[in-house]
Amino acid sequence: MNQVQIAEGIYSVGAVDWTVRSFHGYTTNRGATYNAYLIIDEKITLIDTVKAPFADELIGRISDIIDPAKIDYVISNHVEMDHSGALPAVMKAAPNAVIVTSAPNGLKGLKAHYGDQYQFLAVKAGDTLSLGKRSLTFVATPMLHWPDNMVTYCPEEKILFSNDAFGQHYATNKRFDDEVDLAETMQEALKYYANILMPYGAQAKKALEIVKSLDLKLIAPSHGVCWRSHIPDILAKYEYFADETPEDKAVVVYDSMWHSTEKTAHAIAEGFTRKGCTVKYFDLKECHISDIMSDVLKTKYIAVGSPTLNNNMMPTVSSFLTYLKGLAPKGKKGLAFGSYGWGGQSIAQVNDVLVSAGVEIVTDPIRINYIPTPAQLQSIEDTIAQL
Ligand code: FEO
Repeated sequence: MNQVQIAEGIYSVGAVDWTVRSFHGYTTNRGATYNAYLIIDEKITLIDTVKAPFADELIGRISDIIDPAKIDYVISNHVEMDHSGALPAVMKAAPNAVIVTSAPNGLKGLKAHYGDQYQFLAVKAGDTLSLGKRSLTFVATPMLHWPDNMVTYCPEEKILFSNDAFGQHYATNKRFDDEVDLAETMQEALKYYANILMPYGAQAKKALEIVKSLDLKLIAPSHGVCWRSHIPDILAKYEYFADETPEDKAVVVYDSMWHSTEKTAHAIAEGFTRKGCTVKYFDLKECHISDIMSDVLKTKYIAVGSPTLNNNMMPTVSSFLTYLKGLAPKGKKGLAFGSYGWGGQSIAQVNDVLVSAGVEIVTDPIRINYIPTPAQLQSIEDTIAQL
């Protein structure tokens, strides 16, 4: 099996998931990787594992380098199962290994997932572990994006094993940022941040300060490619992503039954265009909510529309709003719109969810009975342009 040395004696031994297109609901249009790293030193160390179905692949790659039974430490930077799913298989192959995890939440999480039968070493921020020629220092990054998260720094090699941070869902047989299309990688890094880390901007800023203080030759995340030629670029991107100052941008999101909500969405988009905003426009029949979040991250305005269907908003819109609320966007202004024949409950429902998601409402909900007239559409455009 193919393993790549990311530094002398340090191997990338994880797995490429070429065909996955949904990562718990986040569309992974370019597939994914679950990276794990093997350090050959006096103490043989595996950093993270992979998703359970790829356990044999991981162990096969390790076995081509050393007997897995010789592994002394398995560093678990993060309990989530895309990184720990293969832990039982690894521990079967390496029964003497000690699992190194964060205290207290990594330890608690791993025991809840896999039981108490392994040897654990729970570490705190700043703790170090000697491997022989090299050492590892642990940096706590709680809530990026689970309570247990940590990252691991090897000062002798100047490598940061960053787990989810700086990751991208991007299937490739290449292991470095300078071997792939940088625009694609950055697009996936943005989508990853927007869908996974958006609620945790404050924690991301704190973690960035620590990361920026490290002497770095390589950032080795657990998803996608390693950063070696574009470290300042990805750090600058993360600062930009974590900065919650919105841009002059408007995201218009809707579903429509007979084009009335769609016509209203068009008028709103025209209004924002006149206002000078960059407009991003999404019909929920055609666009996935996880793709839309990449544009929601930095937008100032968000307009959400739904016709009334069976006294409710459409399920597509409800799904979008539930997802939006969970990602807790900061500093957004917004409005609700929609069409109806009778009842018209959907528009107030959309408005209410926007409010509960922390969006500042900038105009009364726009309600269209059956079909908008040209005069109504013009009036909507004018209202939006004057916001
Ligand atoms: Fe890649 Fe939070 O797991």
